[in-house]
Amino acid sequence: MVRKKKIEHVLIVDNESVVRKGISRALANRHIQATEAVNGKEALAHLNTRDFDLVLLDIKMEDMDGVEVLRQIRRKDPETSVVMITGYPTIATAVHCTKLGALDYLTKPFSLDDLDAALGKVRDKQTVGEKPSTTSIGIRQDSPKHFIVGESLPMRKVFEKINRAAPTESSVLISGESGTGKELVARAIHANSNRKDMKFVAVDCSALVETLLESELFGHVKGSFTGAHQTKHGLFELANHGTFFFDEITNLSLKIQAKLLRVIQEREFMKVGDQHRIQLDVRIIAASNTPLPEAIRNGIFREDLFYRLNVVPLALPPLRQRKEDIPLLIEHFLEKLSHKMKKPLPEISPEAVGVLKEYSWPGNIRELEHAIERILILEDTDIIKERNLPSYIIQQQGDLQIFPEDPITLEALEKKYIAFVLKKAGGKKIEAARILGINRKTLAAKINKYGLR
Ligand SMILES: Nc1ncnc2c1ncn2[C@@H]1O[C@H](COP(=O)(O)OP(=O)(O)OP(=O)(O)O)[C@@H](O)[C@H]1O
Ligand SMILES: [Mg+2]
Repeated sequence: MVRKKKIEHVLIVDNESVVRKGISRALANRHIQATEAVNGKEALAHLNTRDFDLVLLDIKMEDMDGVEVLRQIRRKDPETSVVMITGYPTIATAVHCTKLGALDYLTKPFSLDDLDAALGKVRDKQTVGEKPSTTSIGIRQDSPKHFIVGESLPMRKVFEKINRAAPTESSVLISGESGTGKELVARAIHANSNRKDMKFVAVDCSALVETLLESELFGHVKGSFTGAHQTKHGLFELANHGTFFFDEITNLSLKIQAKLLRVIQEREFMKVGDQHRIQLDVRIIAASNTPLPEAIRNGIFREDLFYRLNVVPLALPPLRQRKEDIPLLIEHFLEKLSHKMKKPLPEISPEAVGVLKEYSWPGNIRELEHAIERILILEDTDIIKERNLPSYIIQQQGDLQIFPEDPITLEALEKKYIAFVLKKAGGKKIEAARILGINRKTLAAKINKYGLR
């Protein structure tokens, strides 16, 4: 399927408001929506939150030059069309920008004809297939951008694996605790594969009703069962030539697992109630937050299917094992969310970052994202300080700080610690003695000695 690209929404990045307004007006006359950004930072923030069909990017800006912005756009989403705007054209910058993937450049002041010519080039950039869009239950339609933030060693290994695995056809099995970014990684693999222009279809295996799952996956023909009033294309057909993402794969019933295995082996399938075989060419990515070997031992997952899926295993480390990434992630979410909420971007104090770094993040990155969102909603401040953090985070921090900053005597520490455990135990001495591993008499004596009550 080859067709001209539609230009519906353009991001204009220029620090001169006359230029922005001029282009906006011209685009409005052409029924094209425009969003304006006054500098590189703002532009990247916009690009974080939505797709644009074209970015018109000024080369000279105060905060960050356009070439750097272009480089970042390329890194994040190589598909975005970019046309540079320049006041001082030099061959060097033009060549440089083209190398970096800019489609064209406009020299200020430019005419409407020049603008139209540039728009024409963007439209001619051929696009194949369509963006993912389905309406079935359990299927997500959003197409978030694939920015995976991280520079810790475990994440660098993940990036390397994504880069190696993406261009291949191999199945990838992503494992990791809830909220570690499994879906994000699956989308990144698709976006960096040869199938990137075809669909990415995500199915949450736990959100689908067992009885409907079969017809959802394989489709059905009219009259194949009560209620099948029309022939329906299944998700496999929809995802054909693209990538199929099975989320929470351990929630598939054994019956469907058997079917899936057959489909993967035979590379063809039939609609429910149909004899006609359909060739299947999909890349399969699966994810699970319960370890599959355990599910196999418990008899709820087929071992043979596991081997089919686990060609490239990709384990995402929990956030507590890559604390170095926390400051970066905080920055990322502050920018992304403040922009989304149309709030000014606040700063965050090093102390507050320190507390967030020490928290254990049982809900991983999703929990961090929600914590930042909550701070942005509830706290009206230019600088986020410790006291603006959610209380459960500060609480845990207090709990962990059994060692005071200035060293004290063992006795003084014992007093503090016993007081802490007593509080934890809700004042119950039996419970406190159990936690401390001493008998009740000893505890009573120490409470007396230290005057704790
Ligand atoms: N490294 C990362 N950089 C930036 N954002 C991230 C990163 N990892 C995860 N996120 C964000 O955190 C949220 C949770 O990620 P995602 O949905 O991919 O996790 P998951 O492992 O699929 O979770 P679950 O097991 O609960 O389904 C998303 O909003 C995602 O964009
Ligand atoms: Mg998920």
